[in-house]
Amino acid sequence: MADIQAIREELRKHKQDHLVRFYHDLPPAGQEALLRQIESIDLDLIDELIQSHVFHKPLAEPPADLQPPPVVPATPHEPAQRAEHDRAVQRGRELLRAGKVAAFLVAGGQGTRLGYEGPKGCFPATPVTRKPLFQVLAEQVLAAGRRAGKSIPLYVMTSPANDVATRAFFRQNANFGLADPDVFFLCQATMPAIDYEGRIVLEKKDSIALSPNGHGGSLTALRESGALDDMARRGIELISYFQIDNPLVHAIDPLFLGLHDLRRAQVSAKALAKRDPLEKLGNFCMTQGRCMIIEYSDMPEDLARATDEHGRLKFSAGSIAIHVFSRSFVESLTDGGGVGLPYHRADKAVACVNAQGHTVKPDKPNAVKLEMFVFDALPLAERTLILETDRSEEFSPIKNASGNDSPATSLHDQVRRAASWLEEAGIQVPRDAEGQVAAAIEISPLLADSAEELAQKVDPKLEIHVAQTLYLQ
Ligand code: UTP
Repeated sequence: MADIQAIREELRKHKQDHLVRFYHDLPPAGQEALLRQIESIDLDLIDELIQSHVFHKPLAEPPADLQPPPVVPATPHEPAQRAEHDRAVQRGRELLRAGKVAAFLVAGGQGTRLGYEGPKGCFPATPVTRKPLFQVLAEQVLAAGRRAGKSIPLYVMTSPANDVATRAFFRQNANFGLADPDVFFLCQATMPAIDYEGRIVLEKKDSIALSPNGHGGSLTALRESGALDDMARRGIELISYFQIDNPLVHAIDPLFLGLHDLRRAQVSAKALAKRDPLEKLGNFCMTQGRCMIIEYSDMPEDLARATDEHGRLKFSAGSIAIHVFSRSFVESLTDGGGVGLPYHRADKAVACVNAQGHTVKPDKPNAVKLEMFVFDALPLAERTLILETDRSEEFSPIKNASGNDSPATSLHDQVRRAASWLEEAGIQVPRDAEGQVAAAIEISPLLADSAEELAQKVDPKLEIHVAQTLYLQ
């Protein structure tokens, strides 16, 4: 076991020796667990972040030269765009056939807003069969591999709090059909919460308040876990990045992959046309020839509302956290160990021990949590590509327990998309007086991942009745 005297001395140098104040009350297992946590913390980095992010708030001043970025439209308007779309789809399919694409699902978040016990990926999310989010996404990857005639490896990022449960869930469900060697788990790193006096928060006598270091931690996690090496061994060139909370995502999109490749982009992103100027999505912007995302909370309102010469919203492209990364780009970013992404500050109420060693939960923020955001990799790339996508086709996340972006809105949007695919295939779907779909419909990702594919597979004589529950597989 590590030497407590040496650790106490090191902590004292960094003014963090309160972390071991209950050390001698603990049983040996508790002592060991606490020291292991302390050793995982980079105290020099924490000292810097206390100055820059706890005692001061990092400046969120946007650059003065912000311009909207070029965005490839979802539907091509001109023949040249149409030709590029077609070439890109072909190129994307070739890359998939050649086994050059990996799927990367980030699922290390805490899902506090949803308040679901267990990893968010286990949350039952679909309208008829209540498939968990992990299954919806894994089946998409499985189906895309079948379509390509070449399996696609799935890399799943977890965090210490959900790693064991996530692996167990995949094991119990036979990886949802994916072959064992094609599923690779990696666990992201954590950061301690820091109180307003600059002290790392001790949550219990034997444990520090640690939380995952943000989805930006995924890039170093790919490197440190050996996932990048594994990808290199398999000949993977492109990483299709998506998050756990959006069951409508097209996890493997040949058009997006192909455009990324044809344009020689290092990072690509999908964008939505914002519903209104202040919608809570990150804003795509250009500065100094580079693409960046400015969080909605950091975007000055006058810029968010600015319009162009046609009266259209100037910064209309909102980020939905769907990306393609070139493996070589992630390798170059993580070459020296760190990845150089900035930390963002969030003020939170974090449970901590009082003088008696009891854990108390404050009712207002008492500490700062620090996270990296994956989209901060965009300005580090010389070449980026932004592809617009259609909201109703690809975005309905499950973030909150109720209200916007909740299980209820996502179920509604899943049924609506399934109905529109069926209608495009010429099937009549019952609708109520307001035009809402009057049946519960779910389409398995193993059957179709687009309206076109469904049209080839669905029985043209299919009849759907009012209030029917229909699962197409
Ligand atoms: P969110 O920003 O919605 O955070 O994550 P969250 O932790 O899941 O939920 P709340 O804010 O506590 O309610 C968006 C995506 O990024 C992943 C999440 O798992 C989700 O897929 N994520 C987030 C990580 O993988 N690691 C993190 O440290 C944070």
